[in-house]
Amino acid sequence: MKPNDFQLVHRLRVRWAEVDMQKIVFNAHYLMYFDTAITDYWRALALPYEEAMTQLGGELYVKKASVEYHRSARFDDRLAVALKCERIGNSSMVFTGAIFRGDELLVTCELVYVFADPASQTSRPVPPGLRSLVERFEAGESILEIKIGEWTELQLDVASIRRAVFVQDQCSALEGEWDEYDGSALHAVAFNALGQGIASGRLVRQHNASGKISRLAVHRALRGGGIGRAILGALVIASQKRGDHEIMLHAPGRAEDFYLREGFMTRGEPFIEAGTLCTEMFKPI
Ligand SMILES: CC(C)(COP(=O)(O)OP(=O)(O)OC[C@H]1O[C@@H](n2cnc3c(N)ncnc32)[C@H](O)[C@@H]1OP(=O)(O)O)[C@@H](O)C(=O)NCCC(=O)NCCS
Repeated sequence: MKPNDFQLVHRLRVRWAEVDMQKIVFNAHYLMYFDTAITDYWRALALPYEEAMTQLGGELYVKKASVEYHRSARFDDRLAVALKCERIGNSSMVFTGAIFRGDELLVTCELVYVFADPASQTSRPVPPGLRSLVERFEAGESILEIKIGEWTELQLDVASIRRAVFVQDQCSALEGEWDEYDGSALHAVAFNALGQGIASGRLVRQHNASGKISRLAVHRALRGGGIGRAILGALVIASQKRGDHEIMLHAPGRAEDFYLREGFMTRGEPFIEAGTLCTEMFKPI
């Protein structure tokens, strides 16, 4: 068994508070490590857990968790917590987990989750949409659909993502939801397998035949999973296709590293835009 045998690998570092008097990780913490990896699993499926479970009409409950300890982890160890969905029954989903230090196997587990009605806490069949999504993910297939289109086609999804990210999370004014550039911009929306819009961005054509990317927003529960990169990539390709000679954007300080990794370069001095310190960044095409 190796970390590469799994689609989902969560990485962590052992903290001082997690080791016991024997200077090894206290046994109960491993269940917490697996639980954190399960949260990553839903993120990797592009499912914002709460909204997804509401749409699916149930919740997932742990019915059984068994852990086997092979070797000990110690303070400061870097661990890889790997998970896979081994099988889906009628109402149950069985996950196999393994914790590695490098390629050394330390701990294995089996987690039985049951899909159930939250009011009565009685089991229900795993919805077909969730079943096929997990099967596709485990087979290494893409689970995201990115649509590029006009405002008239995508405005409901774009507005709802922006409302959640800019208005609710960042407390921006309600006008942050849309402006006069939206009507002529090209929009990209990422949809998960349940058809929920989870990220968006837009490309505005500037008078000097460059494209300006703005309003990039990813559902807060799904950040850090490559969805922002996917939206950005789709907008860059759209810009290339229509013949722009350059793509530019205004990056808030906290997002600068993200755009640098995607091949953007900084230009000029930082400036304040809507109360935020920003840097102009560009990428020649
Ligand atoms: C989870 C819960 C809703 C399941 O209801 P239940 O009546 O106990 O379970 P059921 O008899 O309907 O069985 C449901 C599934 O679990 C499986 N299952 C039940 N007991 C099991 C066990 N001990 N080991 C493995 N699988 C088991 C059954 O085979 C069935 O699978 P299938 O539908 O895929 O064939 C209920 O037990 C519960 O609420 N438990 C408390 C949950 C909890 O607080 N968990 C900790 C925090 S999340």
